[in-house]
Amino acid sequence: MAAQLVAALLALASLGVSSEPTDCKELVKPLVLDSHSPIYGKWVYHVGTWDEPGLKTDLSTVNSSWVELSSSSDSGVMTIYWADRLNDDKCLQGLANATISGMTSHTNFNINGHSSYHDGKYYETCADCLLSEDYTLLPDGKTKGRYFFLFTRTGTLDASELETFKQQAKCLNFLPEYHFGGTDLCADDRETASPVVENTEKEPTEAEPPAK
Ligand SMILES: *[C@@H]1O[C@H](CO)[C@@H](O)[C@H](O)[C@H]1NC(C)=O
Ligand SMILES: *[C@@H]1O[C@H](CO)[C@@H](O)[C@H](O)[C@H]1NC(C)=O
Repeated sequence: MAAQLVAALLALASLGVSSEPTDCKELVKPLVLDSHSPIYGKWVYHVGTWDEPGLKTDLSTVNSSWVELSSSSDSGVMTIYWADRLNDDKCLQGLANATISGMTSHTNFNINGHSSYHDGKYYETCADCLLSEDYTLLPDGKTKGRYFFLFTRTGTLDASELETFKQQAKCLNFLPEYHFGGTDLCADDRETASPVVENTEKEPTEAEPPAK
């Protein structure tokens, strides 16, 4: 009996390392975004790829990134808190509302006074991982291209999980190029960030209300 069990386990294990052609239908399964989606909570960016060479430049300015996704009282809205450390050692962070319809979330990020529109789709992935496909939209609604991001709870990922990510990216026609996030995360400035605050040591100025 035990020998049969071992044989069965070995057979299962060998499936994982077989050189069968990648079954993209099995590998790439979009998540329906309802309140049971396993996408909520805090996530640390680990690796990303893109489908347009121009998008690489934007991503390469990001040194580390984390997000926190929360459901809101409105089932059609998810809250995204984001915090990016840029290569010039600036932290940018802020809050955005994502409108959810079916498998797609639509978000307008306000980054330093600039709007950046994104459509997101999430996919099944490893345990404790968040896999998102992100369409960066131009104001006319056309897309600049796509990113594919893998976040994990801790920021770390094992080699086999990274391999799976690369295969999933290939299935979705991303380029075989990768950008990795660092682990030096921005501190959570939520008390003072409204909506976006840079971590500089500037004296707070006495705020004059803007002229109306
Ligand atoms: C983040 O910045 C540090 C220090 O400047 C650098 O050593 C590291 O390579 C950067 N990491 C990424 C992912 O850009
Ligand atoms: C998100 O939506 C809530 C509720 O409608 C609103 O109070 C808040 O200002 C919105 N936040 C942003 C960043 O748009």
